[in-house]
Amino acid sequence: MKPAFYVTTPIYYVNDVPHIGHAYTTLAADVLARYKRLKGFDVFFLTGTDEHGQKVEKAANAAGETPLELADRVMKRFQALWDKLNISNTDFIRTTQERHKKGVATLFERVLEKGDIYLGEYEDWYCTPCETFWTETQLIDFKCPDCNRPTEKLKEESYFFRMSKYQDQLLAYIEANPDFIQPKSRKNEILSFIKEGLRDLSVSRTTFQWGIPVPGNDKHVVYVWFDALANYITALGYPDESGNFGKFWPADVQLIGKDILRFHAVYWPTFLMAAELPIPKRLFAHGWWTVEGQKMSKSLQNVVEPNMLIDKYGADAVRYFLLREVPFGLDGDFSHTALIHRINSDLANDLGNLLNRSTAMLGKYFEGVLPEPGAETALDAAYREKTSAMVQQVDTLLEDLAFSKTLQAIWEVISAGNKYIDETAPWTLAKDPAQKERLGTVMYYMLESQRIVYFLLSAFMPKTSEKGLGYLGWTAAPDDQGLAWGGLKAGTVITKAEALFPRIDEKGE
Ligand code: MSP
Repeated sequence: MKPAFYVTTPIYYVNDVPHIGHAYTTLAADVLARYKRLKGFDVFFLTGTDEHGQKVEKAANAAGETPLELADRVMKRFQALWDKLNISNTDFIRTTQERHKKGVATLFERVLEKGDIYLGEYEDWYCTPCETFWTETQLIDFKCPDCNRPTEKLKEESYFFRMSKYQDQLLAYIEANPDFIQPKSRKNEILSFIKEGLRDLSVSRTTFQWGIPVPGNDKHVVYVWFDALANYITALGYPDESGNFGKFWPADVQLIGKDILRFHAVYWPTFLMAAELPIPKRLFAHGWWTVEGQKMSKSLQNVVEPNMLIDKYGADAVRYFLLREVPFGLDGDFSHTALIHRINSDLANDLGNLLNRSTAMLGKYFEGVLPEPGAETALDAAYREKTSAMVQQVDTLLEDLAFSKTLQAIWEVISAGNKYIDETAPWTLAKDPAQKERLGTVMYYMLESQRIVYFLLSAFMPKTSEKGLGYLGWTAAPDDQGLAWGGLKAGTVITKAEALFPRIDEKGE
């Protein structure tokens, strides 16, 4: 039986249309999902939309729609973007779906029956955009410490979750599982937050309607984060613990942005502890994208629209850029100049040229039919070993979610390929009929190394990988076995590759 692998993205709010920040989390999850499938795992990759809460209700009112009409409209934009970006999610959950509402109600009821949810009264400062309550001391000039917007004092009857009860258990879990929260700096941030003391958490609201009713008391709706976080298990069929839940829970990797770490590293595990369910194995908080040095925001009108970028440069160029440009976990800056530079230098020049020149040479010297390799020289061995070492390196680096370093490691082999051609000088060998076998070996090595490169690129740039492998006469889907050297068979017909990425005129942009 194949080993299971479960990766999740946050579910996106439907009060905003998708931008590169959203695309980033989903893309990282997609690369992991594709890589794990390549390695023979049975992968469940979940994404979806977060459709309840006051924020969505307000946005719907402003747009003159019902919240569900708004959700229906915006969630289609997310789905369309994921199609366009070639995202291979297994499921797409919406928090307005029956399966989810049923799961949330059960989760809430179980924790309530256990006595870890109780009815009380709440009075504190509330930030509507962040859907978060703050104590007065946490406020900065009575504004939200996270988003700096005004807060309002709210008093309401509320259900509370006994989060304080789980403080020690959570600390013990984090200590016993040093890889649970990553990167390390984020883990330290969470540890100090917990050590300041966990308060009980308000998990219901009575001031608006748009949410899942609290079981047995429909004056209240379930707090949007309690509702939303549960998506990770309701999509697996919870409360039915057989089937997908039994197979995939706890999640192997939950990818999130740094802004929503506390919800995932404190609220979520304590909810699960109360419900006596296993805790996810790993949570990774990535950084934030700014645009040309500024925070992306509607008011600054600088939101980078992924659809426009994909139309202009293609999905794979955008996928490559976002994961190559910035180490995962750090903040990054988006600029058109940087994107064009990466396309021209890494994709058109390094990757595209290598395939183009090597397939052209095979056409010229061997009529496009791959010869059997002859004796291996030290130069060939070094190139072969570098390629195989890269396969191992990629595995280790991706385990650490080091997407940018992974791409660098692959690009080192691409550069080694260009250098190998320069050093072996096939055009000189071709002039001497006595060197025919040597020339055949060189052809085999340069094309076989690229086959392995395109196998690995299937996780990052699925269409480019398919195209590249197509030129190399490889029709089967990439798999784990094929990562070993020697896959290409003599006699394979290889066609001259067109430019995979046309150069972009930097001045014209
Ligand atoms: N609905 C909640 C998540 C609930 S998960 C149970 C939410 N939604 S969101 O749409 O506001 O954000 C979703 C993700 O997009 C977050 O991981 C967030 O970090 C990410 N990004 C939003 N803007 C971003 C950037 N500018 N840069 C990088 N990622 C950003 O939060």
